[in-house]
Amino acid sequence: MARTVPITDASVEEAARLLREGHLVAFPTETVYGLGANALDDAAVAQIYAAKKRPQFNPLIVHLPNVKDVRTFVVMDARAERVAAALWPGPLSIVLPRTPNCRLSTLVSAGLDTAALRVPSSASAQQLLRAAGVPVAAPSANKSGMLSPTEAKHVSDAFRNDVALTLDAGPCAVGLESTVLDLSTEIPTLLRTGGIVIETLEDILEDSVTIAGHDDAAPKSPGMLSRHYAPHTPLRINALHAEGDEALIGFGAPVSGERANLSPAGDLVEAAANLFRTLHELDAQNHKSIAVRPIPERGLGHAINDRLRRAARR
Ligand code: TXA
Ligand code: MG
Repeated sequence: MARTVPITDASVEEAARLLREGHLVAFPTETVYGLGANALDDAAVAQIYAAKKRPQFNPLIVHLPNVKDVRTFVVMDARAERVAAALWPGPLSIVLPRTPNCRLSTLVSAGLDTAALRVPSSASAQQLLRAAGVPVAAPSANKSGMLSPTEAKHVSDAFRNDVALTLDAGPCAVGLESTVLDLSTEIPTLLRTGGIVIETLEDILEDSVTIAGHDDAAPKSPGMLSRHYAPHTPLRINALHAEGDEALIGFGAPVSGERANLSPAGDLVEAAANLFRTLHELDAQNHKSIAVRPIPERGLGHAINDRLRRAARR
């Protein structure tokens, strides 16, 4: 049974340790309560998707206590520095290119070469992030498609077993998710409206900001879909065996000819954790084609198959 505890120095230390050890911790920010995991740990990030029952791998926001730490994971250009100086800490997330040797889990980016970063302002979030010493991936702590959680009780009502600890600091001040600004391309684009309005961003950037059609639960516009990572190598799904010199990715008990296996034990959380890294690795090996063994349509299998179907479509 998950525990909810008030924010104290001791509970923050415990939450920080649980995060470092790969567990899920729910914590307050100025926007909404987040469902946090160590963003360096693929398996921990995979648990977020499993707990939220997200049907797809939407990229997640990574939280850090200051801009200096942000610069170790993404490339900040002059525009990003300006926006960050004006609005961080605060309810703004910025999408930026991952650094060449970025240690963030590929799952937080859902396989993209960008990542969304945020430096939250709430004292509790700041205290937890400093104590954790690792970047924390955190979507809102609600089941996919349900209302956003602005009190600890909303979190404990939604997650009975998946969350190791929930830190309670009362209601969130903003109560609305952060604004998401994409600065990974030449034209600044607003991916999600939120606590910071577009005029504020345009004033700081001295440039106009384009609004993308975007929905947190399900990116609908073809533009959003095409942004997703797909391997350059043709991909065949639900393959029973490799044909010709296809590189075969297995799931469950290994069969002959596999180049990789997402989870020999047939564990869908482990498979999700390994998915994007495995695709990247095989893609870089210049195979003619990649084939993936069937993944069961249950639990995280829905999200894995969603991603594989999109990657196979061309
Ligand atoms: O206020 C908030 O931002 C809350 C609290 C907990 O900080 N977090 C939150 O995270 O709402 P999440 O993961 O639910 O929101 C992610 C949003 C989605 O709309 C997603 O599509 C977008 O940010 N996003 C994240 N990374 C992205 C990327 N690399 N490229 C494009 N969009 C990205
Ligand atoms: Mg959300």
